[in-house]
Amino acid sequence: MVRVAVIGSGYVGLVAAACFAELGHEVICVDNDARKIAALERGETPIHEKFLPELLARHRGHRLRFSGSVRDAARDSQAIFIAVGTPPSENGEADLSYVEAVSREIAQAIASSPNEYRIVVEKSTVPVDTSRGVHRVMELNGAPTHLFDVASNPEFLREGSAVTDFLYPDRIVIGADSERCIALLKKIYEPLTDGSYYQNKNIIPEPDDVQTPARLIATSAKSAELIKHASNAFLAMKISFINAVAAVCESVGADVGQVREGMGADVRIGKRFLNPGIGYGGSCFPKDVKAFRAVAEHCGYDFGMLDEVMKINDEQRQRFIKKVRNALWILKGKRLAVLGLAFKGGTDDIRDSQAIAIVQLLLKEGCSIAAFDPAAMPKTQASGVFPEEAVFFAENAYAAARDADAVLVLTDWEEFTALDFERLRAALKHPIMIDGRNLFQPQTMSELGFTYISIGRPEVSAKKTVAVPAPGAD
Ligand code: UDX
Repeated sequence: MVRVAVIGSGYVGLVAAACFAELGHEVICVDNDARKIAALERGETPIHEKFLPELLARHRGHRLRFSGSVRDAARDSQAIFIAVGTPPSENGEADLSYVEAVSREIAQAIASSPNEYRIVVEKSTVPVDTSRGVHRVMELNGAPTHLFDVASNPEFLREGSAVTDFLYPDRIVIGADSERCIALLKKIYEPLTDGSYYQNKNIIPEPDDVQTPARLIATSAKSAELIKHASNAFLAMKISFINAVAAVCESVGADVGQVREGMGADVRIGKRFLNPGIGYGGSCFPKDVKAFRAVAEHCGYDFGMLDEVMKINDEQRQRFIKKVRNALWILKGKRLAVLGLAFKGGTDDIRDSQAIAIVQLLLKEGCSIAAFDPAAMPKTQASGVFPEEAVFFAENAYAAARDADAVLVLTDWEEFTALDFERLRAALKHPIMIDGRNLFQPQTMSELGFTYISIGRPEVSAKKTVAVPAPGAD
């Protein structure tokens, strides 16, 4: 057992804290938002994340405690994980002021109880060489250098599957420049790397396609920092690449689904993260690609390829609006049903959501919007991303579709694949579906009576529902 503090209880911090407790460690999770801490103590789960309520209920009050004090938590812990926000500043660089402020407080805690060796671990996504900055701040604030080390342990979890991503990772990356520090980090992850966690009863069930025990990669601190930025930038590039291929498919009448199948069958390429759509969004990819671009520039390398990745992603929105315009001609005054507001399915998160950005553009064009999302509507309403009353939030997909000129699919929610399409079609004024996520098969939608427009695949018209007698038949 290791005494662990996690500073920051956002997506990454809270999931990491709950999972560390699940691995048998004593965990204190810290946030400076007193209301958040009070809500967590009351037993609430502030984010929509599969298995998180179960883990919090299992460990809250036993191995998992909450606190508003960085100092108290740092003083009582052997490993202090920093999982605070690193929002983009105006030039795209990550703003590290929260990381710095927390490092200062941790240093003061170490200076006031210099009886134990501790490690400070960056879990937030940070530019390469941040560990050196953290080390400096700590030294300047009185932490004796023989009593601490700074490490990088980037987190690769995806929203919606964060808990299983944490407990069944493809790899665990730990980066540090001291053996002592690496040894403590290895101990923390040991239940996953020696497989003992997977032998327990009542564990979080194993997802498909994972290999246990987990693989651990130990690197230098700088390499670990780079692994995170480079991985996210690469995945974003994969998405922009297939979106560009989809655009070519549209020009020549090819089917990007088939192209993806053929490309993805090459194990060197792989099918994952090769789904075309309206572009990537979320709290990581847009921010990380920009930050990595800025980091490279800072280090003297002009990583222009990343500009193209971002440009293609931005263009996806306009390309989608163009599809809506092609289908409906004049946008002003049209009523549109929008299915999905979250940046991807399985989450209530709308940060940097392409769906939200597209709705904003359509509102500007003078469309009226009725939207439905299985989880993200409360957050959307509270966020003020749309002018007041501009969007009607429907109780289900059918209510959103009522009298709409077309239905737009903007988020890849699994729920949408189980819709009653007869009912959806009957609710619409015109049976037109414009699918920004390629959730459905064109042929099937055509047979169901929809004019179906998707990304990188030929448009199909609704199959006639009234049978036309064959020539010569009586
Ligand atoms: C991502 C990384 O996957 C994760 O490793 C990192 O820790 C944080 O950032 P997340 O933001 O939760 O995770 O979402 P992810 O599933 O990666 O999707 C990101 C965006 O790309 C979404 O908007 C999604 O819809 C889009 N996407 C993803 C595609 O458009 N096509 C794809 O093939 C995959």
